[in-house]
Amino acid sequence: MPTHKWWQEEFFADLRPFFAQLSPKETNQQVRYLIKKLKLKPGMSFLDCPCGFGRVSVPMAKKGIKVVASDLTRVYLDELEATVKRTGLKIETVHSDMRKIDFRNRFDAAGNLWTSFGYFEKERDNLLVLKKVYQALKPGGRFCLHVINRDYIIAHYTATEWQEYGGVLSTERRKFDYATSINRGVWTFHKDGKARTYEVGLRMYSYHELIAMFTQAGFVDIEGFGSTEDAPITRHTLAQWVFGTKPK
Ligand SMILES: C[S@@+](CC[C@H](N)C(=O)[O-])C[C@H]1O[C@@H](n2cnc3c(N)ncnc32)[C@H](O)[C@@H]1O
Repeated sequence: MPTHKWWQEEFFADLRPFFAQLSPKETNQQVRYLIKKLKLKPGMSFLDCPCGFGRVSVPMAKKGIKVVASDLTRVYLDELEATVKRTGLKIETVHSDMRKIDFRNRFDAAGNLWTSFGYFEKERDNLLVLKKVYQALKPGGRFCLHVINRDYIIAHYTATEWQEYGGVLSTERRKFDYATSINRGVWTFHKDGKARTYEVGLRMYSYHELIAMFTQAGFVDIEGFGSTEDAPITRHTLAQWVFGTKPK
């Protein structure tokens, strides 16, 4: 039986080794894509929310972008703050729930990256995340949501999965709730002969739903791609890169 809810800090602490799924080379490619699509230039500002341990914030700051990095998981921010101290990069960290960030007209661009969206059971909370980031952007500012594609998940659904990284084995048993589009899973992390189990719920979105939500939050010029090569979004593309602009 699950003993923990997934959004508690321990889940992300246990998840840390699994970030190795994406190599630094792949992350750097994503950062180049983001810089191009968000029209960022050195000296411009970028809000990375939620930022994790700075997977994207750090290479972004290395390109001369002024980054504000916000996350709820304290151990990730501690890791990012240690990187900032070691490297002297320009990154400000903010410890906050993504529904509670309180910036106004401050950033040239923002990103919610690597499926950090759809975390809340109440749909109005998921919409609130978009509204908060919209509020944080300057007029003319651009936003990228990089999130898993529901249509791919349905077309390729598997009820169980396991992965091993850094000496930790994770197993997941899943069930898709078609009434809510929430994927419900039970994740177990096995390490050093001990196991910890979490209930995980993730609202998944089709591209047309994201267009409707972006529109509701106020974004214009909405466009989406299924890869960093600007492939169209289809049921064969796992990722969605959806962009929107706050009107001037
Ligand atoms: C899959 S990770 C992605 C992190 C980062 N965007 C990246 O691309 O590496 C999801 C992140 O969401 C953060 N998170 C979870 N719930 C949150 C909340 N309510 N408010 C802010 N951050 C949250 C976690 O701490 C974690 O860092």
